[in-house]
Amino acid sequence: MSMNRLARTTPAGHESLTVDQRLDLLVATARRPRTYRQLIDVFDRIVADPYLLKTRERLTNALRRNDDCWDLCCVLAAAAELFQPRTYLEIGVRQGRSAAIVAAICPAATLYLLDMWCPQYAGVENPGPEFVREQLRRVGHHGPVHILSGRSQETLPALMSRADPPGPFELMTVDGDHRDAGARADLQNVVAHLAPGGVLVFDDIAHADYPTLYDTWTRFLAACPELTARENRSVATGTAVAMRSLERLSHRAAGP
Ligand SMILES: C[S@@+](CC[C@H](N)C(=O)[O-])C[C@H]1O[C@@H](n2cnc3c(N)ncnc32)[C@H](O)[C@@H]1O
Repeated sequence: MSMNRLARTTPAGHESLTVDQRLDLLVATARRPRTYRQLIDVFDRIVADPYLLKTRERLTNALRRNDDCWDLCCVLAAAAELFQPRTYLEIGVRQGRSAAIVAAICPAATLYLLDMWCPQYAGVENPGPEFVREQLRRVGHHGPVHILSGRSQETLPALMSRADPPGPFELMTVDGDHRDAGARADLQNVVAHLAPGGVLVFDDIAHADYPTLYDTWTRFLAACPELTARENRSVATGTAVAMRSLERLSHRAAGP
């Protein structure tokens, strides 16, 4: 892996920061009013689903009341801005709300988006790849977009077993299968492909419909000493974010 690759996960001017300091900077950036306004701007450029509208309302209220409300969307916007990832992987895309955030802030980034397009997922239409591509165009994204349709527990291993697999990824979101076995498999499958200093976002750690998902997350973390995490269980359905240690990878995901 070249030093250039390593440097891409370092926020400009913050090369000497430890992982803990980088995570603190990430969370501080996620909870800034400027980030909330940036998200509202992105949301106003794409077709809205009810979850987007709910998030938009929470951000508007947070701006008005000076509340602290970092969630999946805020942390993705902050990570995209600070780390300017060249490659982003997302499991669980639905109508493209989270993908559009990264796409708007990093319009040239290469995106790998995985979803099986469950019909009416959580009561919301799930129109599929063409709809998502149009959402990304709406926010001005012009980088390569690879959409992999099917169960992520199959499509991700298939992607990574290609002769020339993508990655390592500087930013990843796992927000697909919310059943414990599926979420655990997704986390285990992505972590090997996270760049040194790369950021992994896991959503819904405090979701009332998935009360055991937090255990799945904490057990996963306990088995991954190379990750350091921050969590917010008090806003929306709870979000966790982890950063990989800054050491180079020793396995194949490290690249040449
Ligand atoms: C919570 S939604 C994603 C929301 C999106 N990240 C956002 O911010 O708007 C979960 C998505 O994961 C997909 N999904 C559920 N199980 C999956 C699986 N096993 N493989 C791939 N996608 C899956 C569903 O089709 C749905 O679109």
